[in-house]
Amino acid sequence: MISSAEVKEPVPSPQTAEGLSEERIAYLDGLVHQARVAAAVFTQFTQEDVDRIVKAIVLAGLEQAQALARLAVEETKLGLLEDKVIKNMVATEFAYDYVKDKRTVGIIREFPERNLVEIAEPIGVIFSLLPITNPTSTALFKCIMAVKTRNAVIFSPHPKAWRCCSQAVRIMYETAVKHGAPEGVFSCLEAHVLQDNAYLMRHKDVSLIDATGGPNAVKAAYSSGKPALGVGPGNTPVYLEKTADLKTSVVDILISKTFDNGTSCASEQTVVIDDEIYDLALKKFAELGTHICTEKETKVLERTVIDPQTGCMQPLAVGQKATDIARFVGIPVEPNTKLLITPIQGVGRAYPLSAEKLFPVLAVYRAKSVDEALQVCLDVNHAGGLGHTAVIFSRNDAIVRKFGEVINAGRIIVNSPGSIGALGAVYNDLVPTFAFGCGTGGGNSTTDNTNIYHYLNIKRLARRTEAHMWFRVPDQIYFNLNAVENLRQFQSQATIIVTNKAMERMGHVDIVRRCICPQTHIHVLVIPDAEPEMQVVLQGVEALHFYKADQIIALGGGSVIDAAKIMKLKYESPEADLEELAAPFLDLRKRVVQYPTDRIQRARLIAISTTSGTGSEVTPFAVLTNKKRGCKVTLADYSLNPDVAIVDPQFVMSMPKVLTADTGIDCLTHALEAGVSSYASPYTDSNAMQAIRLVFKYLPIAYENPRDEEARAMMHNAACIAGLAFSNASVGVNHALAHAFGARFNVAHGRANALMLPHVMRYNAAVPAKFMPSPYQHGYVAHKKYATMADLLGLRGQTVEEKVNQLIGAVEQLLDQLEFPRSIAQLGISKDEFEQAVPGLVKIAFEDPSWRSNPRLPLLSELEELFWKAYVGRGLAKAVAAPGQQAA
Ligand SMILES: [Fe+2]
Repeated sequence: MISSAEVKEPVPSPQTAEGLSEERIAYLDGLVHQARVAAAVFTQFTQEDVDRIVKAIVLAGLEQAQALARLAVEETKLGLLEDKVIKNMVATEFAYDYVKDKRTVGIIREFPERNLVEIAEPIGVIFSLLPITNPTSTALFKCIMAVKTRNAVIFSPHPKAWRCCSQAVRIMYETAVKHGAPEGVFSCLEAHVLQDNAYLMRHKDVSLIDATGGPNAVKAAYSSGKPALGVGPGNTPVYLEKTADLKTSVVDILISKTFDNGTSCASEQTVVIDDEIYDLALKKFAELGTHICTEKETKVLERTVIDPQTGCMQPLAVGQKATDIARFVGIPVEPNTKLLITPIQGVGRAYPLSAEKLFPVLAVYRAKSVDEALQVCLDVNHAGGLGHTAVIFSRNDAIVRKFGEVINAGRIIVNSPGSIGALGAVYNDLVPTFAFGCGTGGGNSTTDNTNIYHYLNIKRLARRTEAHMWFRVPDQIYFNLNAVENLRQFQSQATIIVTNKAMERMGHVDIVRRCICPQTHIHVLVIPDAEPEMQVVLQGVEALHFYKADQIIALGGGSVIDAAKIMKLKYESPEADLEELAAPFLDLRKRVVQYPTDRIQRARLIAISTTSGTGSEVTPFAVLTNKKRGCKVTLADYSLNPDVAIVDPQFVMSMPKVLTADTGIDCLTHALEAGVSSYASPYTDSNAMQAIRLVFKYLPIAYENPRDEEARAMMHNAACIAGLAFSNASVGVNHALAHAFGARFNVAHGRANALMLPHVMRYNAAVPAKFMPSPYQHGYVAHKKYATMADLLGLRGQTVEEKVNQLIGAVEQLLDQLEFPRSIAQLGISKDEFEQAVPGLVKIAFEDPSWRSNPRLPLLSELEELFWKAYVGRGLAKAVAAPGQQAA
């Protein structure tokens, strides 16, 4: 509780022990020592122990509410006995009602669904200042908070509230100890020595300062280097809006502003009244015992109750009755006058009565519009009351909300008294308190009503959360020879076949066309056989709209299927910004950009792959080339997944040897990377492992004997199955390197993968320099996964290391069999040219999202090393047991 009434507070010395006698230091050290011992003993108390003591001290405080109120009024000469009794009762009864069922010992809250447990720990020794305005109520309140949280407190009351505070603390202490609290749990400084506060604030065994005091004390607390709870000054603006219930509002303001003779720092200071109700409002105030000051009387008050030098209120007026103030300044008023109202025309130093007045003098301002009223309230708010309290009376919810948005106050009280409303729990559901946090506006760290949770260190025990995983694939997959016949079952009014020239030339488009329902209108859209550009996509979308297509059949390799995926996205969600959707992300479920879900029309996407490698027919990925900006964007979202995949080997029988090798190794790389991915699951593993077996068995056959139907069919299946694996487990460093290198030197994707593959496998099988953080994995398992793959392939080896080497050897042997170059150098790229390119390649590879699921977190230096290993290349493949002989 802070106010200008505290102007005459003691100013703490910046020097800790300066001016203190040895005896005084020994006395203060003694207090801290006994508090420290008490706090240590308190840590052993159970929740039941503290709850029993809390109830006892609350009852003791209630019993003494009147006696303590009397003492406070007598000593401080501020406020009203009757209201101070209410304050004491709120500080005990209402505080108890709030804390009685709350857990403050040990485990206080559990969130099983979040695997989180909160454990309370006491703070230890708290050094606490008590104010002159609410001395006994604040003391009672803080004692209750301290016992409930098992803390020991040393109190330092305002010099002019010494006796009443000591008495309040004594009553609480004796009752607490009688009911089992540790001795020394509370103490109150005997007599006042100016330097005590500064010394105690910096004492090594004081853990927290609770500075409910004037600005100097709060500043000293924050400057001490200790954690501190502070409060800020108030200057409460009130907006009496024209829709307000005037009868209630006027009484509420009277209750609040005259409560304890206006000593509460949350009490109303300036009421801004709408023009339409201004006269009526003042009439009602007058009827209920308010003296409306004339211009001349207002001038007199300005001069007498506000210090012209500082612009702050004069302490002599603080907490005095309206009649006493009127008599003192020479304004004749009725004997039953409870409030003086002074009309003002502005806010700031030129209008002295717009400042905080902790006595029953209330400024009023006539506002011609809502905007003006809000502005004046803001001005009052900023004239010394930032972060504290504001009040509005209105039945217009929009204006109430607007007021809440513009005003900077921790407590915005609606249609109820400000001073009592801010205390919490009486007129609203705010947490009850006698210390108001005012946020950064008031120089505090919080806007909270200080309560038990500010007296605790709350520890959070966070158990490992096994994030949910997924296995998302197209609804239907048809495979084996003539699987394309399944097209007949899909009804369609208008179908667009997205394909390329080669498919048309080879007659594949005609095969597809024959399998589409006869009633369907068919349009063939031939696109270039290269990664799709925006222009191509937009032309496709135009055609989809023109024919009102309800079905898209993508017939081709990865680029054709990717183009169809993006066309469908733009067709169904025209507003989708593809570049924005390609924004980087770390975790699919937490990504910043969300793909559209409110699609205006739907078209079934059927993907028929004509190469055996990319797996695009089942993946949620699509690559788009932005020719204008000279870059590629990768789109990834399960909404891109085709609805139906057709894996019919008749479309790959005529694949050239080089394409067979390139796409086949791309497929193998997908499976190997998905297998060791940090996102790998038993679901993706089963697909990855099977794809690896199929590749080792059938790729050499398909390469050597392209017309072998079984080998072609199995390689086609392998590509799709590997696609299922990496759709859900993603790939790794190999793809990041291959993407960068392939784009820079125009090397086919599968070929680029092949150049990196053995080196990346060796890299992933070694102990990482840097582990990849992953909640999905337990320990580092990449090398063991490779060993399992070796076992599945029937390779030799006893130890994990031997098996890893066997697997890498088998991969190298396969690459040799498929006549891949062994090094980047063999591609005819000079060392100088490569050296120049490497820094850029490393940068691009590091930006590639592919490695985010790699089992090992790649360092930039490691990426560079891997590029050079691929440049220099590998030796002859070591002889390994013929893979696949015991496999598949
Ligand atoms: Fe790939």
